[in-house]
Amino acid sequence: MKKLFTIGAMVLSLFAVAQNNEAKMNAFVSSLMSKMTLDEKIGQLNLVTPGGGVATGAVVSTDVEGKIKAGKVGGLFGVIGVDKIRQAQELAVTGSHLKIPLIFGSDVIHGYKTTFPIPLGLSCSWDIPMIERSARVAATEASADGLCWVFSPMVDIARDPRWGRVAEGAGEDPYLGSQISAAMIRGYQGTNLAADNTVMACVKHFALYGAAEGGRDYNTVDMSRIKMYEYYLPPYKAAVDAGVGSVMSSFNEIDGIPATGNKWLLTDLLRRQWGFKGFVVSDYTSVSEMIDHGMGDLQTVSALALNAGLDMDMVAEGFLNTTKKSLPEKKVTQAQIDAACRRILEAKYKLGLFDDPYRYCNPQRAAKEVLSADKRAAAREFGVHSTVLLKNSNQTLPLKKSGTIALIGPLANNKSNMLGTWAVSGDAQLSVPVLDGMKAVGGSGVNIVYAKGANVTDDPELAKRANVFGERVDVGPGTPEQLLSEAVATATKADVIVAVVGEASEFTGEASSRTDLSLPQSQRRLLDELAKTGKPLVVVLMSGRPLTIEHESSLATSLLQVWFEGHEAGNAIADVLFGAYNPSGKLSMSWPRNVGQIPVYYNHKNTGRPQDDTKPGQKFRSNYLDVANTPLYAFGYGLSYTSFSYSPVQLSKNTMRASEKITATVTVTNSGNYDGEEVVQLYIRDMVGSVTRPVKELKGFQKIRLRKGESRQVSFTIDDEMLKFWNSDLKHVSEPGAFKVFIGGSSDNVQEANFTLMK
Ligand code: BGC
Repeated sequence: MKKLFTIGAMVLSLFAVAQNNEAKMNAFVSSLMSKMTLDEKIGQLNLVTPGGGVATGAVVSTDVEGKIKAGKVGGLFGVIGVDKIRQAQELAVTGSHLKIPLIFGSDVIHGYKTTFPIPLGLSCSWDIPMIERSARVAATEASADGLCWVFSPMVDIARDPRWGRVAEGAGEDPYLGSQISAAMIRGYQGTNLAADNTVMACVKHFALYGAAEGGRDYNTVDMSRIKMYEYYLPPYKAAVDAGVGSVMSSFNEIDGIPATGNKWLLTDLLRRQWGFKGFVVSDYTSVSEMIDHGMGDLQTVSALALNAGLDMDMVAEGFLNTTKKSLPEKKVTQAQIDAACRRILEAKYKLGLFDDPYRYCNPQRAAKEVLSADKRAAAREFGVHSTVLLKNSNQTLPLKKSGTIALIGPLANNKSNMLGTWAVSGDAQLSVPVLDGMKAVGGSGVNIVYAKGANVTDDPELAKRANVFGERVDVGPGTPEQLLSEAVATATKADVIVAVVGEASEFTGEASSRTDLSLPQSQRRLLDELAKTGKPLVVVLMSGRPLTIEHESSLATSLLQVWFEGHEAGNAIADVLFGAYNPSGKLSMSWPRNVGQIPVYYNHKNTGRPQDDTKPGQKFRSNYLDVANTPLYAFGYGLSYTSFSYSPVQLSKNTMRASEKITATVTVTNSGNYDGEEVVQLYIRDMVGSVTRPVKELKGFQKIRLRKGESRQVSFTIDDEMLKFWNSDLKHVSEPGAFKVFIGGSSDNVQEANFTLMK
């Protein structure tokens, strides 16, 4: 009783402190705003980039210095480093009338200067504490280098690997995606935004950006509300619930209105239903892009955005150049301008910038933190955990540290592709190539012979597109035929071949959609020729998306999916190949057999004519004439050097009421020859509903470590919340009836049990 009372008093006093802080902030911001002119208020809503970095649109801002001094800029991005940021901040706090500090943002997507695996790779670790730590480490490094705001996490659910930006997200599942979203917010923002080693996160791209038709970037999105609420919105909501400071609106339309001007989205849903208190920034020129969407001229679309609830305009300068005119014309109100300005100033207040505008500009911290050894070590750790073993016949992996290994492929001795897409601050030259990692980890007992074997692609047009940010596809020296015959000669001398193949890093990312997801022809030919040597063929595959590799996976003895692992790629890959780390990654996105199967995702509906898997090819069933319905590799799939066996699922009871819980338990045994980690996955199916329900939905998972021979009971608590779904009235409800519980090591390899939810 006394303990309860003490906890209650503590909560109350924390609440009082929070209220007091908020009151202080409100008073400060009100007093500042009372001194601001209309122009200065509008200036706060303007986010500019001076260019020089990676600009993702056609436009970059001009006369940035003059605008800062004139109070026409609220924040900057694309400027990094303590010196440059201090210089720009000085312009604002000494050169401008009210000395309001700027906020400095950047695309810190998978690490900052120390580059980690691409987010899709990291998500395959299913290691939530580790993913949180990856954001924490990135925040420490970025904040030490002057930044206080990151345009991350990207939490767009995606079922279409043609879309190049799947590389930046966490795959297809709303539950896993939400866990990762919240973890990254915690990692970036910590518990105190004003600390000098935390940054404000910006969840993006709100909303539904991952559902562009045909997987073509920036394309139209159209979906039902139920689908939005059920599958696409949860990770953004998770970010809001975790206290994210800012939200970025997306390029696409929703119900015919671009997100950046969509009042239902930015006000009704985000602020009224979800209670978001931070600020909303547009994506790069997404305000002015509403002209091309067909929503009107710059003044009209800027007013539309402000009315919708957008607070900050990235690069378009629509707010800057039209809002003053729109006010007397009653297209916007003073209250709207004030509300937006207040939210930007509040963010700066929370970041501690009014106390010390140079809080993030400490050269000693920069020298200590940026590219420090502990961050490289973290990158290597994150790399090994992101790796997914897709195939391992004859236990070809792990490799022995003896004999001769032929290391072959265009990505085997390459630095320029290791970072992957959206590594805007990472220096590719600091990457460890696979060849170096193999030599270092393999040691002197193993003889490694190398040949390039093929260019990433021989298609000059594709190469040109991949080389926009610097050379990713290097052609030659030697003709394709010479490269190939040299590779075959090298392979013939070896005991085992390790072929490192895949995409160039810029085959994915923004504006990098593809309709052909196979390996480029040059590399397919290389693998065919290597397979003909009859040597064990270990394929190490780098890509920013699932690829269609049915043929290549049949050629490979072992297949290791490594994504783009960042600066430590070579070391991390070598750690896994030689068994210093036993891979434990599980796919967060289904791998299609061919492009025609897309979208292929595990949590699909049953349909009225479901495919009967015992009778493939049946007429008048939902199937294809020419390919199975199943993916090549399912969501949740991933092997280990050891094997895990699962007991049947035990339920604590077979019926429950909404107020009750059921415990589902399995015993997992490490039945192989290595210690290892396993992601134990819980899925549920609602057998009957007032709206149709998916065949399976992920509802929980636990990553466990088992020594060889060890068994462990793993339990999940099932409660009513896990059985809820969005019904036709958009109410989140559970309905009585039959449910199935599935537990296993992959969405397509599970044990099942049944229970009933009673009225
Ligand atoms: C991208 C965003 C990014 C922004 C700023 C846009 O093109 O869609 O994800 O944060 O540029 O670099």
